[in-house]
Amino acid sequence: MKFLVFLMLVSASFAPAQPTPDLMASMQTIAQGLGVSCDYCHTAPRGSGQPEPKKDIARAMIAMTRELNQRVQTATGKPAPEAAKVECVTCHRGVAIPRQLPDILKATIREKGVAAAVAQYRELHKQYYGRQAYDFGEDTLLAIGQQLAAVKPDDAIAILALNTEFYPQSARSYAALGYAYTRKFDDDTAMKYLQKALEIEPENGVIQGQLEQLKSYHRKSGTR
Ligand code: HEC
Ligand code: HEC
Repeated sequence: MKFLVFLMLVSASFAPAQPTPDLMASMQTIAQGLGVSCDYCHTAPRGSGQPEPKKDIARAMIAMTRELNQRVQTATGKPAPEAAKVECVTCHRGVAIPRQLPDILKATIREKGVAAAVAQYRELHKQYYGRQAYDFGEDTLLAIGQQLAAVKPDDAIAILALNTEFYPQSARSYAALGYAYTRKFDDDTAMKYLQKALEIEPENGVIQGQLEQLKSYHRKSGTR
């Protein structure tokens, strides 16, 4: 808000034309779409000629978005007022760099380890839950855990345990935990988690089958 007043003053004293209400409304929309304030892009005093790199990107994005809308209209054969509109928020969803949550977490696991990814998930959840920026649904961590289970069971276990914290009734997460423990040759813990999954979804044939398989393997190998 302070910045807006500042801009108005600056434009009043240096340039005869005030920014139009239309421009101001579209600036508000842009800022909201990216979840940033005005000075994220307007970093230099007006007329100073200093570089404003984010503003340059935004200018290109505005052109790109206009082009996308034209292409959407051509592709669908709908005139502008009928075609659903691509806007900044369509991609950005309230964040400046619109990455999907699984990509963010997988990159963190790769670069900094699973503990950092767990902390990051908690932080993002605190900041963004209930908004459209990221999908904090049951399947996000579940899918990452399932992908990691075969090769990096310890990482998978950390991710899946986190998911059961947010989704204590996620039978599929307990089943995936069970699978991850078999990859660590800890079949006792694996059976515990499969049983837990079955308590939640007693009719789940896939989980029943997994538990049966593990039990019969134990009977055959004589460890039980
Ligand atoms: C994502 C980057 C971005 C954000 C955030 C943003 N702007 Fe802009 N703004 C631009 C771009 C790009 C232009 C157009 C520059 C051009 O085409 O010459 C512009 C133009 C303007 C202009 C016309 C004068 C000028 O600098 O070209 C004003 C005034 C302005 N913005 C005010 C605001 C206000 C107030 C906010 C916050 C509500 C805001 N802007 C948020 C990128 C941004
Ligand atoms: C089709 C999808 C799409 C649309 C629509 C879109 N953007 Fe982007 N934008 C991206 C992607 C993807 C990135 C991130 C690229 C990267 O740095 O990895 C990005 C990055 C940016 C950045 C740089 C952010 C930073 O911190 O580096 C700005 C500023 C930006 N967009 C502004 C806009 C504005 C303003 C609009 C609407 C006029 C818009 N974008 C519409 C996809 C889009």
